[in-house]
Order: sequence, then C-alpha cells, then structure tokens
Amino acid sequence: MTGPVLGIETSCDETAAAVVGEDGAVLSSVVSSQVDLHAAYGGVVPELAGRAHLELLTPVVAEALERAGLAAGGLRAGGTAPVGAVAATVGPGLIGALLVGVAEAKALALAWEVPFVGVNHLEGHCFASLLDHPGIDWPVTVLLVSGGHTLLIAMEGPGRYRLLGQTLDDAAGEAFDKVARFLGLGYPGGPAIEQAASGGDPRAFAFPRALLDDGLDLSFSGLKTSVVTAVRKHPGASNEDVAASFQQAVVDVLVAKTLRAAASGGSRGICLAGGVAANGPLRAAVRAGAEAMGLPAHLPSRAMCTDNAAMVAAAGRWQLEQLGPSPLDLPADPNLGLPLLV
Ligand code: KG4
Ligand code: ZN
Repeated sequence: MTGPVLGIETSCDETAAAVVGEDGAVLSSVVSSQVDLHAAYGGVVPELAGRAHLELLTPVVAEALERAGLAAGGLRAGGTAPVGAVAATVGPGLIGALLVGVAEAKALALAWEVPFVGVNHLEGHCFASLLDHPGIDWPVTVLLVSGGHTLLIAMEGPGRYRLLGQTLDDAAGEAFDKVARFLGLGYPGGPAIEQAASGGDPRAFAFPRALLDDGLDLSFSGLKTSVVTAVRKHPGASNEDVAASFQQAVVDVLVAKTLRAAASGGSRGICLAGGVAANGPLRAAVRAGAEAMGLPAHLPSRAMCTDNAAMVAAAGRWQLEQLGPSPLDLPADPNLGLPLLV
C-alpha cells in the first residue's frame, strides 16, 4: 500500500476524521461531538445528526489532514493525493448519518484517484485495541459494548470473528442511556451515570444480575425496569446511590461473562471495545479479572473506545491490504452485522 489512510466516521452523533500512517500509527484523530445539539432532546435525533454531519464533516476532514501534516482540502493540489486511500463507516448506524460520510469518502477517493474502503463500524471498534497494542497474541476475547450492541466475540485475528454471546434485549450502553434519562442525569447517559456513581454506594440497592450463572448471553431490560421500580418505591433515594448500584450490576455481569468466555475458548487475552468500555469501574474490574487469570488485558484508551475515525482508518488499512478496495457503488447499510466466521 502507498501512503496513509484517511478514515471517516459518521454513523451516529460524532463527526470524526483521522489519518493512520502506512505503519499503522495514528497521525491525527479529530472528533466533533454533537452532544450539545442533541442534549435538549435527551437523545440523538437522526435528522439533526445527518444535517450536522453535512456541515461539520468537510472542516473536520481538513483538520485531520492538517494535523497529520498533509495538505488540507486540496483536490490533488500539485497533482498528488494527500493520502493513499479513504475509508468510511458504511454501517451499522443511522442511515441519514452514514450517507454523509460514505458520500464524502467516495467523492474524495474519486477526486484524488485513490481507493475507497467501506468499513463495518463494529469491526472498527474491534480494531481500537490494536491501535495501542499492535502485537496482540491471538485469539482474544472481545467484549464489544456500545450504544446499540453488546457482543462477546472470539477474535482469532483481524477479520476473524466468532460470536460467543450477545444481549437478548437492550445493549449495555442503551441501559446506561435509559437509566440516566429516567434519573434526569441527561445525555449521553454513560458518562453521566459514571460521574453520579462515583459519589454513591454500589451496595445501596441489590439490583438483579440477569443470567449471571447461565451461559454467555446477556440481558439488561429487567435491570432497567428494576431501577424504575426501586426509585418509585423509594422516592427519597439519592441519584448517586441508584447510579452506583445500577453501574455495579452492569459491570458485575459484563465482567463475569467476559471472564467465562475467556476461560472457555483458549483465549490469550481480553479486549474491550465500544463506548461503554470507557467506563472506569468496568476497565478496572476487567483488568483485575484478566490479571487473576494470568491473561493480558488490551484496553483501548478511553478516547478510542467511543466513536472515532482512527479505528475506522485502522480497519480500512488492514482491509485494503488483505481484501482490496470496495466498489464505489457499495451502499451504506444501517443494519450491517459483524462479518462472522461460519
Ligand atoms: O461506541 P459508541 O460511542 O457509539 C455506538 O457505536 O453506539 O457507544 C456509545 C455508548 C452510549 O450508550 C454511551 O452512554 C456509552 O457508550 N458510554 C458509556 C461511557 N461513555 C460512553 N457508558 C458507560 N460509561 C462511560 N464512561
Ligand atoms: Zn460505536
């Protein structure tokens, strides 16, 4: 491959662009959050997200190129393209949001006469651990916990995924967001719950740990209902105690399932991925559990857990090398799943 890869991520409410060098190093990563835009509505408004991406993406791409020391914006200024390929998230995500990033990436690839690579957002999250830990010993157990997905994966290497377990109802991030909204803590819910929980007692409420001793699938909708029931029953309860008890219940289940998955599959390490992986108590508990098992824990930095384009560029770089470019008529797919080995 020749040259760095520009990554573009617009699947939800972060407008992001990043450049990863030919050697895999992150040369720049720019994330423009739309949190302020959606906060008034208590969650992401898809139509507003798409429109905001449209306004923000071109300047965000220019900034990513500039910070990477590459010519900003110029369409083949001087006859050379600033990057060797352009990768963008093609799904899963909000269709109106995805389309903006996919259209921009294809247009830039066409204008610069470089390959376009369509990246699966979930696969991108799996690559986040590799940014800081390029020498991973395979296979590893990956807990992928985002706003829309909760998956336990045996990753045998880049592009090689086996599904071990998944949520039967709500995603872990969705539970954080719904409970935060119910408690009036605002959006996005995960960081708000983590902050409130830091001042609370995790033993104040004995919330359920669904399916704790049962297999590798997970469930969070009952927990959410238990929080609502408990708060209605104890109207004087402090938000801090409720948040801390809720967070502890989620962390207990996620960690127990991840360690069980790692113990059963000849795993040589544990990776975390997705926005919920930015959660401090989850990270600490996974680190401690992995250490007790004698396994390394490969945790992405917090910034690389939540949506960003460096993970997209990294996945795109690997994909281009191993599988080649994507066709320019590759569509965005809001329901794209992780490509699994059969
Ligand atoms: O991966 P991500 O940024 O976007 C999706 O692909 O969905 O994940 C977003 C999710 C949201 O549900 C958010 O509340 C959660 O990750 N999240 C957290 C934390 N930071 C973000 N959950 C718990 N603790 C956090 N610190
Ligand atoms: Zn994500």
